[in-house]
Amino acid sequence: MDIKNSNWRIRRGKIINARQMTASEKWFDIQLEDGELDHEPGQFVQVELFGIGEVPISVCSSPTKKGSFELTVRAAGRVTREMHKLEKGDFIAIRGPFGKPFPVRTMVGNDLLFVAGGLGIAPLRSLINYVMDNRREFGKVDILLGCKSPKDMLFSDEIGKWSKRLDVNFACTVDKAEPDWKGNVGLITSLIPGVNLNPERTYAVVVGPPIMYKFVIAELLKKNIPERHIVLSLERHMKCGMGKCGHCQIDHPKNYYCCKDGPTFTYDEVKEAKKL
Ligand SMILES: Cc1cc2nc3c(=O)[nH]c(=O)nc-3n(C[C@H](O)[C@H](O)[C@H](O)COP(=O)(O)OP(=O)(O)OC[C@H]3O[C@@H](n4cnc5c(N)ncnc54)[C@H](O)[C@@H]3O)c2cc1C
Ligand code: FES
Repeated sequence: MDIKNSNWRIRRGKIINARQMTASEKWFDIQLEDGELDHEPGQFVQVELFGIGEVPISVCSSPTKKGSFELTVRAAGRVTREMHKLEKGDFIAIRGPFGKPFPVRTMVGNDLLFVAGGLGIAPLRSLINYVMDNRREFGKVDILLGCKSPKDMLFSDEIGKWSKRLDVNFACTVDKAEPDWKGNVGLITSLIPGVNLNPERTYAVVVGPPIMYKFVIAELLKKNIPERHIVLSLERHMKCGMGKCGHCQIDHPKNYYCCKDGPTFTYDEVKEAKKL
C-alpha cells in the first residue's frame, strides 16, 4: 500500500479560524498543508494531539466547501478539553477521512427527513449543506432539530437561513425554554407526527445521542418509513479508526466495527444490536 498517499498517514492542519459556540462546544476551520481532505458527508477524522491522545471527530462541513474543512468539538474529557485550548494559527495532526459516509447517491431523487438531536447536528450539517448545494437532485426536505435549551443550539445563524428557505420545511424544539423562546418545547419525537411524508420515497437520516434513537425510530416506523430508509450514525470508543484494533466493535451478530463498517448504518443493518 502507498502509505504516503493513503488516509492512514498523519497530515498537518492549520487552524485558520476557531470560535467558542456554546459553553461546551468549539468550532474549528482547518486547512491541510498538503491539499484537500476529500471527505464525504458522514465521515470522520482522527485528531491527534501529540503526547495527549487521539479522538474521532465528524467533519461538519460539506465537501462542496473547498480549501478547508470544519470540526465541532464538545469538551468531553482529556483530549477534547485540550483541543478547546487551541486557537487560530495553531497546528493539529489529522488522519483520515475514515468511515462509511451517508448513502448520498442512493438518496438522490428521494425526499429527505433530517432528525438532529444536540451535537448530532455536526455530522448532519455536512450532509444538509451538501444537499442545499445540490438542491435540485433531491425531493422534499424536512429538517427537525432538537436541543436542550435555546442557548445550546449550534450553528444558529445557519439554521436560521435553512428555516427561511422556501424549499425546506423546518421545525425545532427545545427540552427547556427560556423566557424569550417562542418556539416548540418538548422532545424531538413530538415533531415527527406533524411531518407530511411519502414513506416509500423518504430517507430519514437521524443523528443524536444514543437515547434518542429508540424513540425516534419508533416514530419513523409508525410513519411506515422502511427500515432500510432509516439511516443512523453510531458512536463507539475508537482507537485506530481504521478496522485494526477492535475497540469499536458493535454488539451485533455480525460484529461490525463502527469505524470501518460505519459509523453510518441503515436501521435494518443494526436493528439486532444490543445498543444503538
Ligand atoms: C465516529 C465518531 C464521531 C464523533 N464525532 C464527534 C464530533 O463531531 N464532535 C465531538 O465533540 N465528539 C465527537 N465524537 C465523540 C468524541 O470522539 C469523544 O467525545 C472523544 O473521543 C472523547 O475523548 P476525550 O479524550 O476528550 O475524553 P475521555 O477522557 O476519553 O472521555 C471523557 C468521557 O467521554 C466518554 N467518551 C469517550 N469517547 C466516547 C465516544 N466515542 N462516545 C461516547 N462517549 C465517549 C468517556 O466514556 C468519558 O465519560 C465522535 C465519536 C465517534 C466515534
Ligand atoms: S477503532 Fe480500531 S477497529 Fe475500529
